[in-house]
Amino acid sequence: MNSPTVVSLFSGCGGMDLGFKKAGFDILWANDFFKDAVTTYRKNIGNHIVLGDITQISSDDIPDNPDVILGGFPCQGFSIANSKKPEYDQRNFLYKEMVRVINDKRPKFFVAENVKGMMSLNNGQFLKDIISDFRDVGYNVEYKLLDMINYGVPQTRKRVIIIGNRIGAENVFPKESHGYEKGLKKPLSTKETIGHLCKVHTREEPLKIKDSNSGKEKTVYNHWAKTKIDDEFWGRKYNVSQFDICDYLKFWRNKAGYGTKQIDDLFGYAYTAGHWFRKDNNSGSIPNPDDWWKLKDILGFDDKYDKQVTTMIRKKITYETSLRINNWDEPNDTIIATGSEIHPKSPRRLSIRECAILQTFPDTFKFTGKIDAMHTQIGNAVPVLFAKKVAKCVKEELEKPLSMKPQSSRRKTVN
Ligand SMILES: C[S@@+](CC[C@H](N)C(=O)[O-])C[C@H]1O[C@@H](n2cnc3c(N)ncnc32)[C@H](O)[C@@H]1O
Repeated sequence: MNSPTVVSLFSGCGGMDLGFKKAGFDILWANDFFKDAVTTYRKNIGNHIVLGDITQISSDDIPDNPDVILGGFPCQGFSIANSKKPEYDQRNFLYKEMVRVINDKRPKFFVAENVKGMMSLNNGQFLKDIISDFRDVGYNVEYKLLDMINYGVPQTRKRVIIIGNRIGAENVFPKESHGYEKGLKKPLSTKETIGHLCKVHTREEPLKIKDSNSGKEKTVYNHWAKTKIDDEFWGRKYNVSQFDICDYLKFWRNKAGYGTKQIDDLFGYAYTAGHWFRKDNNSGSIPNPDDWWKLKDILGFDDKYDKQVTTMIRKKITYETSLRINNWDEPNDTIIATGSEIHPKSPRRLSIRECAILQTFPDTFKFTGKIDAMHTQIGNAVPVLFAKKVAKCVKEELEKPLSMKPQSSRRKTVN
């Protein structure tokens, strides 16, 4: 049987595509308008990627009838930290390009990926609109919020995965393999994943190290890191215990007769208030000064903690004060596109290679561009290992004998 085929939109440097390729798919055509990402893609995956803005590319220039269309449509406008009505950001409507190409090319399946923040945009209406647009062009669509840590990726990374098909097949999501519950493998810690590079001198050029498994020499590419670790940030002047503030806020919230959800609604947040009322060293948080004052108006609490919570000063981030110091013996936090975190054990940022390893790119995958552009490519990517697991699920469905259900050939005019 011929390999199933893929057309890939918003391909970036190719994390998702590489996963599909490793699972046995043949990528026919890919596209991105980020030049460095396209160069990286060409070097590592293939020449089939086209550099250009998808809004300017006609469907006639895209191969017909691929088995699958992939698309991690852009997420910049989805940041929940951005309170300026991100739902109006034009970048949020690029998913319509994916709908357009799917409608014109009629793949059997499609797979899309996006950040968790997309789920709460416009109180969840935005995601509903996306799903209904995919359904309108004839696809049976399902989505799930998955944490890549449960699939063998050594990193907490929550993403929305949308799968759709028009052949009456099942939209199968991969099974969890890793986690802290019985029967699952324990996720790898940062130390276990990138510990071997901790003391290796970082540089732009490739370097050789001895592979601890085989004992043979191997080349390490892109072990290049920023060494600036003393940025400044706004921090609290006084030490405050999150547990104390949490107890205090809970007391006043109960007294005022509010539930957490009501507080979220009053702030227009998705889940933030929950973190203020959660006594937890990992996910509990103390409101920032603006939120504190607003909360005080709502709950009417006294002045006990006002000074401690709201007095802010400029502080230096140093190697020792980096939050990441805790992450050495635990899985890493999400690798992001806007830059790398301070290394938990070395006075430098995580290197390009270390971020790539945490995103499960193979050691042979070489990135191109300036250091920031490489971090963007890696932080944007779908972890290769996770993509491969999704790809296997789709491939199994494609290989099953055709279901008795009728195939939808519905095609709609998309504006
Ligand atoms: C989240 S990233 C996708 C990463 C990719 N799925 C991977 O696994 O590596 C989104 C990509 O969309 C690209 N993009 C954004 N707007 C675009 C447009 N109008 N045309 C083509 N590509 C675009 C960005 O350059 C970025 O690489």
